[in-house]
Amino acid sequence: MTKNDDRLFLITGATGNTGRTAARLLLERGHRVRAFVHREDDRSRQLAAAGAETVVGDLLGLHDVGSALRGVSGAYFCYPIAPGLLDATVTFAQAATEAGVRSVVNMSQISARREAVSDQARQHWLAERLLDRTSMLTTHLRPTFFTEWISWWWGRQGDEGVLRLPFGNGRHAPVTGADQAYVIAAVLERPEPHDRQVYPLHGPVEMDHHGIAEAVSRALGIPVTYEPISVEEFADGLASQGAPSHLIQHLSNVAVDYRNGVFRGTNNLIEVIGDRSPLTVEEFVIGRRHDFDHNGPRFTPPKPAPDGSWRHITASRIRGLHPHRR
Ligand SMILES: NC(=O)c1ccc[n+]([C@@H]2O[C@H](COP(=O)([O-])OP(=O)(O)OC[C@H]3O[C@@H](n4cnc5c(N)ncnc54)[C@H](OP(=O)(O)O)[C@@H]3O)[C@@H](O)[C@H]2O)c1
Repeated sequence: MTKNDDRLFLITGATGNTGRTAARLLLERGHRVRAFVHREDDRSRQLAAAGAETVVGDLLGLHDVGSALRGVSGAYFCYPIAPGLLDATVTFAQAATEAGVRSVVNMSQISARREAVSDQARQHWLAERLLDRTSMLTTHLRPTFFTEWISWWWGRQGDEGVLRLPFGNGRHAPVTGADQAYVIAAVLERPEPHDRQVYPLHGPVEMDHHGIAEAVSRALGIPVTYEPISVEEFADGLASQGAPSHLIQHLSNVAVDYRNGVFRGTNNLIEVIGDRSPLTVEEFVIGRRHDFDHNGPRFTPPKPAPDGSWRHITASRIRGLHPHRR
């Protein structure tokens, strides 16, 4: 590790998908990192062990955020899909202004639009506009769906797998949280050329979910199918898992956006800005093989067959290891 300079960076959402790798990259590059964590646990202890200064706090708390921003040069602002994004953004903007923070990388999403029906997506758009009104150098990241989705909604029974999602024949190029972190770190290190930029972030290959199922099948060597389901079944599945209504409202509406092409596209921003070759779906699954041994945390099971399996739903559609695309 070489000491680059003594700038201090604040990483919020530091135990999440994007934040933990962004923190690690900046530490490896010799920077000082303050990791803003929601709670102390194994994830925060790993950050501390890697050399980060960890502070426990709530992004909705002006005192917590204000203290965390003292002495900070640049910050990654990342709020989860949860109520309170606008409160958190206003709090962050005021505290960062008071602390003289020079730049912010803001996690938004590709569906952020003035007219978005999803509350979270519309609030992301408003949050971007608010941050653009500060004197900070601001950069907004608008990723498409993360590759991690595949493991969250993955269903496994015996030697076959299924993706049950409400995405019709819509398409996107899945992008991992870790690959996005390379862009976050690069922009924090050199924010000037990225001021007031909005960057859609995509993975390397655009595909529909039949294609994604084929890629997972190749990686695991088992048959995998995509079962398109209705938005209503998807929302009911989330509700039966006890998912918060804000999340259900968001995901149901972006499912419609997805079908309408809002999540489509690909580009080379991960390479050009992050100097990183983004992972394909196959590479991601091979690297996380153990996550596919069992159902993902969000799997929506179909109504069970009399023998308790869902083989009747998938097997009839499987032709060999790599189901044909429909
Ligand atoms: N998933 C996707 O496909 C996708 C696509 C495009 C954009 N996005 C955007 O990505 C963002 C999420 O990024 P991510 O996936 O890297 O994060 P993440 O994995 O969802 O993690 C969120 C982090 O924020 C922390 N946190 C939650 N509430 C907090 C609070 N009130 N105060 C302080 N910390 C809090 C969590 O800590 P605990 O776990 O301890 O609560 C966690 O470390 C969202 O804004 C979403 O809109 C996601």
